[in-house]
Amino acid sequence: MTGRDFSNSIILVTGGAGFIGSNFIYYITELYPDAAVINFDKLTYAGNIENLDGVKAHKHYRFIRGDISSKKDVENLFDKFDIDCIINFAAESHVDRSIIDVGPFIDTNIGGTANLMGIARTRWANNLGNKLFIHISTDEVYGALGKTGKFTENTPLAPRNPYSSSKAAADMMALSFVNTYNFPVVITRCSNNYGKYQFPEKLIPLTIINILNNRDIPIYGDGMQIRDWIYVDDHCEGIEIAMRKGRIGEVYNFGGESEIYNIDLVGKICRLCDEAGVSSNSARLIKHVTDRPGHDRHYAMDIGKVSKDLGWSPKYKLDDALKETVNWYLKNKTWWTKLLNREYKDYYEKQYGDR
Ligand code: NAD
Ligand code: TYD
Repeated sequence: MTGRDFSNSIILVTGGAGFIGSNFIYYITELYPDAAVINFDKLTYAGNIENLDGVKAHKHYRFIRGDISSKKDVENLFDKFDIDCIINFAAESHVDRSIIDVGPFIDTNIGGTANLMGIARTRWANNLGNKLFIHISTDEVYGALGKTGKFTENTPLAPRNPYSSSKAAADMMALSFVNTYNFPVVITRCSNNYGKYQFPEKLIPLTIINILNNRDIPIYGDGMQIRDWIYVDDHCEGIEIAMRKGRIGEVYNFGGESEIYNIDLVGKICRLCDEAGVSSNSARLIKHVTDRPGHDRHYAMDIGKVSKDLGWSPKYKLDDALKETVNWYLKNKTWWTKLLNREYKDYYEKQYGDR
């Protein structure tokens, strides 16, 4: 192992019951079997403790329900554990929800991150050199690209929706902690993730599930928006490398090198579902609907820095990992049916119910 070694440490994963957090917990418990991994999650609508069924028997894994924006919850956590490394995934993560109600985005993404760092800073004061806070951020903080181009770490922040603004604010707060307190932060910014356990409000699982439910697949506007898709395991690998080799105060952009128009991505999913025999001519369900307000047309990441400084590049190809992902949702109907039947039901019906 090169760089910092947290393989025998206490690692706090916030938001570990969400999509990327739960995938990361599987990844890190397997790679660091002797590390204590604490999953600290508020269990909002997006948090699903069943995501962790496969790891709950692990002798060093613990789940603690709590809110990163609560002083009491975070103080209690630090009273119980001498945490060495924090990976902060906890966030409100859906752009459409941020357009409907910005409050939780301010509270968790900005207030929660500041609260967590503030308490960690005090608790770690005498040992800052051995501690690490990885803040998980997004390509969306850079705003939108024109038809071509890629974001680098030097691209100025120019967020254009409430979600990305809240993430950019948290990034600025984190960097200000490095400058003001020598607080040991590394920021990772990543493009759109896909894979197992993604909450079905996001484009890929939503499309698969709507096909299976024989419902319309809503394409916002003309569907000619471009996203760069990364398989979640590649992102998890990048974060673990950043834990070891990331330089304090640095930002690292991760991307999947898989740019595609939304309409073409949905077309691929339709074909995969048709080939799997679960639907026929799925593309008939595609329906262009009113565009998202302020919809960013294009995101893409330049991964030159992570490739050079961290030796990371994505391993998975979109076509292969998308097929694997579609198959996972086909096989795990119980997982997503339960989610549709919980609090998500009202939101889903309102957004995507029979028209
Ligand atoms: P998610 O919505 O699936 O999961 C978020 C998790 O955070 C949930 O388990 C939720 O219960 C928990 N949470 C929310 N508020 C909390 C609070 N106040 N205290 C404790 N826990 C709380 O999100 P995700 O897609 O897994 O994203 C994880 C992180 O990665 C986020 O910070 C997001 O901004 C970032 N990110 C996501 C993507 C993507 O494509 N999904 C891309 C780049 C960056
Ligand atoms: P999403 O998965 O919400 O991620 P993000 O907004 O963070 O990129 O959306 C991905 C793209 O798909 C985005 O351009 C919006 C678009 N989209 C649709 O066209 N229809 C939908 O129903 C959803 C949820 C997203």
